[in-house]
Formats: sequence, structure tokens, C-alpha cells
Amino acid sequence: MAIEAFDVVDLIRVKRDRGPLSTGQINWLIDAYIRGYVADEQMSAMTMAIFLNGMERREIRDLTMAMIESGERMNFSSLTKRTTDKHSTGGVGDKITLPLAPLVASFGVAVPQLSGRGLGHTGGTLDKLESIPGWQANISNERMRQILDEVGAVVCAAGSGLAPADGKLYALRDITGTVEAIPLIASSIMSKKIAEGTSALVLDVKFGSGAFLTDIAQSRELARTMVELGEDAGVATSALLTNMNVPIGLAIGNANEVRESVEVLEGGGPADVVELTVALAREMLAHAGQPDADVRAALSDGRAMDCWNRMIRAQGGDPSAPLPVARETHVVTADRSGLLVEQKALPFGIAAWRLGAGRARKQDPVQHAAGIDLHAKPGDAVVEGQPLFTLSADEPDRFARALEALEGSYRIGDHGDEVLTGGPLIAERIGA
Ligand code: URA
Repeated sequence: MAIEAFDVVDLIRVKRDRGPLSTGQINWLIDAYIRGYVADEQMSAMTMAIFLNGMERREIRDLTMAMIESGERMNFSSLTKRTTDKHSTGGVGDKITLPLAPLVASFGVAVPQLSGRGLGHTGGTLDKLESIPGWQANISNERMRQILDEVGAVVCAAGSGLAPADGKLYALRDITGTVEAIPLIASSIMSKKIAEGTSALVLDVKFGSGAFLTDIAQSRELARTMVELGEDAGVATSALLTNMNVPIGLAIGNANEVRESVEVLEGGGPADVVELTVALAREMLAHAGQPDADVRAALSDGRAMDCWNRMIRAQGGDPSAPLPVARETHVVTADRSGLLVEQKALPFGIAAWRLGAGRARKQDPVQHAAGIDLHAKPGDAVVEGQPLFTLSADEPDRFARALEALEGSYRIGDHGDEVLTGGPLIAERIGA
């Protein structure tokens, strides 16, 4: 048996006592964990020590690089187009990838968007796109490259070969209360994005009640850490800190979010979805050497829509096929006239999940037509009896638990009352 370079218990003690781990120690730890030499209970102690005591910038970079080295690296340098990608830390009604990828690609830039599925109250881009009849998330690397060349935008499932150490570590963090550690989140996200081979990256880091990290200071620290990791790896990276206190747009679910994205691509759609899509597109295009691109024009003149149609067809989908519609609906109406002053993202995300739009376990299917359509947003005047939102589900017995989640989640006040949105949609930009 080969002699191991380190003793894992010594390494746990170093981190427990707030010391830094060396590059060699981190490389060994990740490799030994993947090999099964370091046991889950030992890695749990290590992730808890990192959660409590943090890591230095150099350690986070080493951890990210070690996770990248655990798997394959994609390389798009042979493409004639520049590559730029976007990653969101996830939110309620966050369908921005759908209009954004074809919008940016319509400017001749390649957008290799490796996406995931939803877990818990935040939706997954692949689940949303799978509500389009025929659309396939799983494609080969070869096909991905071909679509990037021909269409420019591809949204597909990340293969298990990309940073496999992250998959194993994330599953462990999920069951040991160690997900919300900035060094671990940053290395997890950035290892996958750097391994994906994009030359530029824009991060949409959310804060607020519907976000993964609710506190803006923590989101800022996460954004800064990820921007530094990207820059250190030679990926031009910037981040927008965006407000996730209120659901994004009017649709929360899967098929309904596709419908809303298509409205944006047709030049319409809710103002907040358009604002975020345009801001992220400008950021991505600036990295691709087009800082003055007229992004709004590409939405209103059909160029982005044309790219969407080709992107969906390239993966077997029929962009003109009807989207699934739920068997049952339940409308909630205003119990008084006044001003809608509050609409909290998290309970709406949980309610949509309970209606069947999300999954509790990785292997569960989602119901594509399940979800919530909002008919009013904070700041809107409402009259007694008018519909506030519609719940959709295939099974009517799901409504009670969804309504339970929504208790106290919205409030109608008097005209002139303060509207509680937690500030502007785009709070800050981080990056060079
Ligand atoms: N998303 C990831 O990919 N990793 C994390 O740790 C958190 C969110």
C-alpha cells in the first residue's frame, strides 16, 4: 500500500485551530477524498471547521484548483467566437438565462451555459426548458461545440466529468449544515465555471429573503471572492449584486417562466425581468469586446427571438409547440382595496415548489405546468376582489400546503404607505 503524504486528522486539527492549509495539503485532501481514503465523517469535520474558521484567499484558490483537477476541463479556444457565460446564485422566478443566452448570442458571442436542476425553493434552468416539447438537456461535448458554432447559445446539463469532487463535497455539505460557507460556495461554483472553459463570466449574486445568502454584506463577500478566483484563473469575471426580496417577474414555475421569457424575447415582458436581462447582457457583451452593443434593440427587432428559436430547435425542441397547462387552478383575490406593499420571495418560492414546480429529492420529477402567476407586484394599486395571483397544479390537494406557505407573505396597505422591496433591483457591480 502506498504511503499517504498526510494524516487527515492533522489537517482537520490545523483548520479547527484556525491555521491555513498548505497547497500540498489541500491537493492531497481533495484527491484522497475522491479516492475514498478520507472518509465522509472526516470530510464533514473539515467542512465544519472551514465553515466556522474560514479560509485565506490562497487556500480558496487552491481548493478551487484541486476540485477542477479532479475532472475534465472543456476548451472552446478553437471556436472563432469569444465565449462568455453567466451564473446566478439562484432565486425565485429567476428565468433570466432563458432570454439572456440567445440575446447575447445574437451579437455573435458564444454562450456555453452549463446549467443545473432545481432543488428546494429555487428553480432550475433545465427544468424550465424541459417544459418545451422535445427539448433535450443532455448533449455530447461535440454537439455542444457544434451548436455554439452555428447558433451561439447552448444551455445544457453539466456532465458528471466536470469537477466531480464538487459533486461529492456538495452532497456532503447538504446533509451536514455546511452549505452556507463562503469559501465552500465560491470554490464550488467557480470550479465548475472555470472547468467549463469560458473566457469570461458574469455572476448574478443575489441577496434578500429569497436568496441563498440573505445578507447583502455576505453576498458582497461571496461576489468578491468569486471575482478574484475567476481573475486568478484567467477568466475575465464581474458580478452584479441583485435584490431577491421580491419574486422576479410575474411567473414562478417552469412552463410559465418559459412563456414569460418568450414575452421578453418578443420585446415585452415585465420591467424587472427586462432590466436584469439587459444589465447582464451588457456586462457579458462588454467582456466580449462589445461595450456599446444596443441590447434593447436586439430584443425589440426579433434578433434575440430568432436566436432563441434556433437554440431550442438545435436541442430537439419545438419552440412553437403549446406549453403544458395545469389541470387545476386556484385564484387568490385581494381582501381589500389599497396598495400592494409587500410580496416576499421565499414563501412564493416554497409555495411553487409545493405545487409541484420543484423537487425535494434530486431524483424526483417536476410538474412542468405547476407554479404561480402573479397579477400584481409591490407598488401596484389593487381593488377588493381583484385576482392577486393564481396557483396552478395537476393535483388539487397541493393547494392547501401552498396556501399555508403563503400566509403572511404579502400585504395590502394604504395608498402612500412605504413599499417594502428592499431597495433597487441591481444594487452594486463588483469587478474591474
Ligand atoms: N451552487 C453551487 O454550485 N455550489 C454551492 O455551494 C452553492 C450553490
